[in-house]
Amino acid sequence: MCGIVGSVGLKESHKYIIDGLKTLDYRGYDSAGVAFLNKKIELFKAVGTVDKLSSIIPSDKEGFVAIGHTRWATHGKANLYNCHPHLSCGKKFALVHNGTIENYQEIQKKLLDKGITFTSDTDSEVILNLIEFYYSQEHDVLTSIRLAMKEIIGTYAICLIHEGEDKIYVMKNASPLLIGLGDKYNLVASDGSPMIEYTDKFIELDDKEYGVVTSSSYEIFNIDGEKQNKSFVVKEAELVKHSLNGYDHYMIKEIEEIESVVKRLISEYADGSHYKFDPEMIKKIRESDHIIFLGCGTSYHASLVGGRYFEEMGIPTASYIASEWAFHPMFPGKKPFVIFISQSGETADLIHCYKIVKERGYESLILTNTKGSTLERRCTYSLLLHAGVEVSVASTKAYAAQVTALLFLVAEVFNLDYVRKDLDIACEVISNIRKELKGKIKEIANIIKDKNDIFYLGRGYDYYLSLEAALKLKEISYIHSEGIAGGELKHGPIALIESGTPVIVFITDHITAASMRGNIEEVKSRGADVYVISTSKLSKPGDAIVVEDYPSYLSSIIVSSIAFYLAYFVSLLKGYNVDKPRNLAKSVTVE
Ligand code: F6R
Repeated sequence: MCGIVGSVGLKESHKYIIDGLKTLDYRGYDSAGVAFLNKKIELFKAVGTVDKLSSIIPSDKEGFVAIGHTRWATHGKANLYNCHPHLSCGKKFALVHNGTIENYQEIQKKLLDKGITFTSDTDSEVILNLIEFYYSQEHDVLTSIRLAMKEIIGTYAICLIHEGEDKIYVMKNASPLLIGLGDKYNLVASDGSPMIEYTDKFIELDDKEYGVVTSSSYEIFNIDGEKQNKSFVVKEAELVKHSLNGYDHYMIKEIEEIESVVKRLISEYADGSHYKFDPEMIKKIRESDHIIFLGCGTSYHASLVGGRYFEEMGIPTASYIASEWAFHPMFPGKKPFVIFISQSGETADLIHCYKIVKERGYESLILTNTKGSTLERRCTYSLLLHAGVEVSVASTKAYAAQVTALLFLVAEVFNLDYVRKDLDIACEVISNIRKELKGKIKEIANIIKDKNDIFYLGRGYDYYLSLEAALKLKEISYIHSEGIAGGELKHGPIALIESGTPVIVFITDHITAASMRGNIEEVKSRGADVYVISTSKLSKPGDAIVVEDYPSYLSSIIVSSIAFYLAYFVSLLKGYNVDKPRNLAKSVTVE
């Protein structure tokens, strides 16, 4: 969710902090702030983007110590008071925090009773003042941090600075925090991407650890105050620098990359009609009697498709929304195998599930786009999506990559030699959609952009696609949209259809095509404006968009790009910030 950067001893601290926050601002963009420490703490804060923050900082401003933050509001409105860094009541400490504190109200009450005052509505300021309170008794920052950590319940990645000290203090629990090691400087950030231009050596803090970083050293302790021996890991600079490459928005760039992402996955994993996966993992999947898929949002939608792939081959599966499963975990079967799906690899709900899976002693696989992410490091097996950094908050190419990777997995487990060739067809159809259909899609976008409710209908794979299409549209156009299984229409949702309601219907499966045509008649007779997206053999005169034929199990990889373009154009025509929709963040690191 929020992003953190910090530097100590770095000459170009201003550049690192601003560029770093820009790298992270897709994680949250309600407000941004920085604290420079040159003996004294100096704060700069802005509501909105990092560019706004940058415009208020003098260009020659540097700090021997600096910490910065980009915020996605959880406690308190997006205003200057709630913008990080926060300054303590006594004005000697400043802090940036990612995460949420469950018992902050209790602690705040205790501090208020002692005369400590607060200037924000945030849970973060409570931690800060708690540390300052302990410091007033202990006169030692590390001890004060440890005492505070024993008291706070919640998730946090924190950087803290103290007037007069050339140091950054760090604390971590269930929210990622890395230290990057440089030459005569050290860095801190909530993920590796801001630091990759400065170092490839990283120390990862574990949960309930805290420590101190200077320009030439670092020390990490566990919650009992015992010093931890932590060695660094070297990470490849695989994280490509974000660039629009001439596109107006990341979302359209990322949709247009789908074909190349599928091709990259083929070249990374396909080996003739087999796939280069850990044989041990494939054996475990083959031996399992049940596959449990866990994901959130778009990744959950990909898991529905993956579940179906395995079920069709005879392995029972269950796909769960991670935040639901976490509170009522179910392990169907005697030998389940767990597959997590997460573009970021940092989603808090999934990490919660991972802990349960681990406690129960089950092995797991993570499908992720983010090498070195928390889940990638922790799960027994990992399958990288190689989609390249996805900057737009709305996930597009990562979804296509997730479904493609799941297809490879099922192809390897069941020796399906036709999949590899079918994907060539998929790439061709995706390419033709990109070259020929955008004009038509934009026309539909123009007609539906001012509607209040839009429905997507489909059956089978097209139903899963409808769910994803509706999610994409609602998140960036703010239009209410729903994906409905064709057969469910009569069981309730048809009550919502009235004159002029747009209904977008996917017909790509010959088994359900006739039933879908029946659904179209039902909604038309209630006045709906119907837009059919069909494949050539199943098309009828009047269909809005017709694509070449392909094996219908590939719908989620192919036709998803039509749904993504449509959402993009609607958002664009409405004048919204396509890449950074309101209230959302790229990496959802709070539950
Ligand atoms: C929608 C979207 C979200 C994410 C969800 C899970 O476009 O991007 O629904 O899919 O927040 O995120 P990851 O895949 O990072 O676990």
